[in-house]
Amino acid sequence: MVRAIVLAAGKGTRMKSARPKVLHELCGRSMLWYVLNALGEAGIDQTLVVTNDEIDESVRASGVRTIVQREQLGTGHAVKIALDVLEGNDGGRVLIAYGDMPLIGTEIFTNVLAALDEKDAPALALVTARMPLPSNFGRIVRKGDNVKRIVEARDADPDELAIDEMNAGIYAYDEAALREAVGALRNDNAQGEYYLTDTVAHLRGKKHRVAPVVAADHRDVLGINDRAELALARKTMNARLCAQHMRDGVTIIDPDTVYLEPELRIGRDTVIYPNTTIGRLSRIGEGSVIGPNARLSNAKIGDRTEVRESVVVDSVAGNDVCIGPFAHLRGKTVLANGVRIGNFVELKNTQMADGAKASHLSYLGDTTVGEDSNIGAGTITANYDGVSKHRTEIGKNVRIGSNSSIVAPRTIGDNALTGAGAVVTKDIAPGERVVGNPARPLPKK
Ligand code: UD1
Ligand code: MG
Repeated sequence: MVRAIVLAAGKGTRMKSARPKVLHELCGRSMLWYVLNALGEAGIDQTLVVTNDEIDESVRASGVRTIVQREQLGTGHAVKIALDVLEGNDGGRVLIAYGDMPLIGTEIFTNVLAALDEKDAPALALVTARMPLPSNFGRIVRKGDNVKRIVEARDADPDELAIDEMNAGIYAYDEAALREAVGALRNDNAQGEYYLTDTVAHLRGKKHRVAPVVAADHRDVLGINDRAELALARKTMNARLCAQHMRDGVTIIDPDTVYLEPELRIGRDTVIYPNTTIGRLSRIGEGSVIGPNARLSNAKIGDRTEVRESVVVDSVAGNDVCIGPFAHLRGKTVLANGVRIGNFVELKNTQMADGAKASHLSYLGDTTVGEDSNIGAGTITANYDGVSKHRTEIGKNVRIGSNSSIVAPRTIGDNALTGAGAVVTKDIAPGERVVGNPARPLPKK
């Protein structure tokens, strides 16, 4: 059986934040989310996350088993309390990773586990990375293709500090050897902590082999400790997300200014212009145009639809729709096919049928608009009476004149018309034409 223990209880003091470190986000997901996501594909039988009181609930809410480390006495201590709640499993393997390495990929986990099967059966395989300036990372002290020990930067002498191979913080252990080594840890170091990294020297003392697995790219295994490092990791993650969509047939004019999140779906031949943010499980069809300067969050956009310089949140647009420039859709707005929404139009919880239009300067809240109806410039549905919200139902082929105010709740029948500046305080029958303030019917033609 292969188990994974993810360490996420650290205080994260270097973030200088009220929010626990591993819950800080890059590209819309927490650091911990990325680690768990990569583990999800690594053939792990059981995963346990070591948390603290502040993050425990949110981690458990994502369906993962947790154990709370009340006092953060170091990475070795965190592993010890995790092992204490896991029943013994002789011959099993334990993969340990830190929750602060969001750029990690599944392959590194499977490689380090596979290294346990190498010749001489190492008791521990661990991921290392060569990098020019390892700064605060633990240094790998080698003897040939064995790791002799890991020395934390704070405890290192100048020769050790000059070593350019660092400890990534990803380990695969034989479970029995791990239990034994963790039991022997001491905290006589610069930080007064129980370091998991000291298990290396212990296992070597017991004549076990400790195998290094060098990561292909040190950037994949960087542990994030402060916000400057987080910003760099975000750049890398975003570049990867953009590259993936470009490979899948999406044109991104300038990936440096397009901000994506994981788990988006974007169809082929869609073009994304600069300064555009797309997040929260948005879906975009084929041949659409998004941006420049657009923000989509939980948006579902069809094929051949344009969203220019506009905001679409929690809303849906069908095929061949034009939105913007400078429109704002929110609160479960749904646009059917061929709808046109122009500049300075805000739609909240509004449903517009095929071919309907609101081209300029309008607010429609809690409104339905039937097929091919036209909402004139400056139209407002007054949906709020100071206490409750009310709906406006507008039928098919209706023409709402410029600057009309419709005081909800109101129903306007098919083929009706309001004159410019009408203040509609009564329902309008199908085919009826109303003008004035308050709006009154014109004689039938
Ligand atoms: C650690 C390693 C270092 C390595 C670096 C890679 C140790 C002693 N050092 O240093 O060799 O180069 O990671 O990024 O392991 N945590 C707990 N409980 C604790 C302490 C920490 O759960 O009591 C968790 C943290 O939330 C974090 C992880 O363990 O996710 C690593 O802790 P951190 O303080 O970031 O260690 P580093 O100083 O980065
Ligand atoms: Mg760290």
